[in-house]
Amino acid sequence: LKSINTIAVLTSGGDAPGMNAAIRAVVREGIFNDLKVLGVRKGFNGLLHGDFVEMTARSVSDTLGRGGTILQTARSHEFHSPEGVKAAAEQAKYFGVDGLVVIGGDGSFRGARDLSDIGFPVIGIPGTIDNDIPCTDYTIGFDTALNTAMQAVDKIRDTASSHHRCNIVEVMGRNSGQIAINVGIASGAEAIIIPEMKLEERPDIVNVINEGIRRGKTHFIIVLAEGVGGSEELKARAEQETGIDTRINVLGYMQRGGSPTVQDRVMASLMGVHAVQTLLAGKSSRIVGLKEGKVYDIDIAEGLAIQKPMDRKIIEIAMNLSI
Ligand code: F6P
Repeated sequence: LKSINTIAVLTSGGDAPGMNAAIRAVVREGIFNDLKVLGVRKGFNGLLHGDFVEMTARSVSDTLGRGGTILQTARSHEFHSPEGVKAAAEQAKYFGVDGLVVIGGDGSFRGARDLSDIGFPVIGIPGTIDNDIPCTDYTIGFDTALNTAMQAVDKIRDTASSHHRCNIVEVMGRNSGQIAINVGIASGAEAIIIPEMKLEERPDIVNVINEGIRRGKTHFIIVLAEGVGGSEELKARAEQETGIDTRINVLGYMQRGGSPTVQDRVMASLMGVHAVQTLLAGKSSRIVGLKEGKVYDIDIAEGLAIQKPMDRKIIEIAMNLSI
């Protein structure tokens, strides 16, 4: 006998391609299991203010291929106080919600943990382009963002090569270098600079350019993680000390939008279904994730406490291939 009748789903924090596929999976898996499914608009803000909408199987038609989030999202300050968390749980109970699925990044999971700490059943699904949540090997949106950024760098390279220039391309990722290292490898960047590198490990741009010119290179792509910053200083050094014409490209929000890739749609579908099944199994306070190629779930507090340093091997590979 199942003990839950109504579930709700919300998206929180930065939008990510594939969030709609995750919403769709939660809605349809819920309805498939005879649950009533409510959508919460504008993240935890909507929860706090009772902004609920009943979802049907048709509410999520034609959403698989759409970027952004049909439920909209927010970074809520109001929610993150003990009073806010309590008020949000009361709203959810008032609407008869027995369990909540939160799709978002680590900030959103901290909100989820606060709700579960006061006894409200919550399941988190990782949705962020940054892939910076240590308890999961994958976050929904990462692959699409990588492909978008890689294609942008490929285009920038055409001009860099035609004009013998150096282009410093700043990619997103907050404090994580996951986007930068993968885009850098995929686009054959001459140097990649990420927050996970110790200061002495960071490639010296002047050295990279001078050595590259000595080896016959005529143009340079430097992929810089936004978490490191300092693109203007890098440009000034490159120009003053090597004489090469240098440009800065900040890819920005274009990395966060667009139609999700196969990987993001499939991952979102698998994780969405897993979240509903976890609630149906009577579990709560869990984060859904990917571990060793399989979708699994872990206690929220335990998941948030995990720390995962970046694999040093991938940094080494990136450096070795850029000669
Ligand atoms: O977490 C996703 C992300 O796009 C980060 O890569 C970036 O640092 C941040 O969000 C930007 O946040 P905002 O949308 O609040 O400007």
